Amino acid sequence: MRRGPLLFIVVTLVILSLLLRSVFTLLSLLVEDASADAIHRAELPSPNSSLIEHRPQVIPKIIHQTYKNETIPEVWMEAQQSCIDLHPDYEYILWTNEKSRDFIAKEYPWFLDTFDGYKYPIQRADTIRYFVLAHFGGTYIDLDDGCNRRLDPLLAYPAWVRRTVPTGISNDAMGSVPQHPFFLRVIEVLQSYDRSWLLPYITVMYSTGPLFLSVIWKEYMREMPNESGRVRILMPDEYNKFSWSFFTHHVGNSWHGKDARLIFWMGQHWMLLTVLGFILAGAVGYCLWWSYGRLSLWSSKHRYRYSKLPSFISLPRLSSPTRLSRRAMPTLLRRVSFKDEEAGPIETSYELYSRRD
Ligand SMILES: *[C@@H]1O[C@H](CO)[C@@H](O)[C@H](O)[C@H]1NC(C)=O
Ligand SMILES: *[C@@H]1O[C@H](CO)[C@@H](O)[C@H](O)[C@H]1NC(C)=O
Repeated sequence: MRRGPLLFIVVTLVILSLLLRSVFTLLSLLVEDASADAIHRAELPSPNSSLIEHRPQVIPKIIHQTYKNETIPEVWMEAQQSCIDLHPDYEYILWTNEKSRDFIAKEYPWFLDTFDGYKYPIQRADTIRYFVLAHFGGTYIDLDDGCNRRLDPLLAYPAWVRRTVPTGISNDAMGSVPQHPFFLRVIEVLQSYDRSWLLPYITVMYSTGPLFLSVIWKEYMREMPNESGRVRILMPDEYNKFSWSFFTHHVGNSWHGKDARLIFWMGQHWMLLTVLGFILAGAVGYCLWWSYGRLSLWSSKHRYRYSKLPSFISLPRLSSPTRLSRRAMPTLLRRVSFKDEEAGPIETSYELYSRRD
């Protein structure tokens, strides 16, 4: 094979593998069903079970919630109250903007600039929950999630997060012991994910939100953590909608914003978007190929002559012996069509012939 095409193929493969590597975790999230770490319903006693639990409760009895100030809107009052009523023996902490900032300034001063620098308040609401779980441990619950039963059985796992369908995990309900390696990892890498992605919703999702958490989770799992480092997954049926589920979902999503609909649309059409992604990658590949063809045409002027092909016979012709010898070079590289200035608006095909032919 000639050196040119070989070089082209190597460069293309390198570019493609770099692209693939950068989206590999995202792609692998699409096929991750979390079954290996799922909390099986058989492990969980039913809400009013007579089963005597022997498992030690390792997660501290603290419920964390976040809101900008102490005045919680009425739509979420009922949900909040249902959690407080069911857990009179738990400590309850509402992380307001002011309290959150004070906490970061005092305990994690290295993160304060990033924390203050977040463009969207929801990013601060996202990050504070990771920090308080890593610091105090406990259970974080979004304000729009009410409690359907006591959380005690979930306190037996060193860390748990909630599975979302079709992909990944969410950050709206999760629990952890203090200093759990997963949440330590999460707060450690937050700064490096603090980037803008053009659309506010994608920026929030990927810098601090559920997509960010899912990516870190997927990478963390690759290291095969031991039992105490494992992150167990609460599956959708145990999350809400059933009498044995832990939570109830109340009206009023904490995600405000017009582009919310876009991301939900994207979530529902991830298959289409993946296909579009591959088409885009193909188009980029084709452009590279085409540029290479033009470049080799230009650079090999000394070694090749071009014979103008009459446009009416641009269909593939029968192979002659000399054509066979050039088979190694794809047609796309051998034949180039472009508008010939002199010949007017007619596309003219040129074909490369080695001067040796
Ligand atoms: C459990 O008991 C409580 C209080 O007795 C009751 O309100 C609730 O409906 C019961 N839950 C189930 C799933 O049986
Ligand atoms: C909390 O914020 C709301 C809306 O911005 C405001 O109406 C309310 O007065 C605030 N509450 C306190 C205690 O500052």
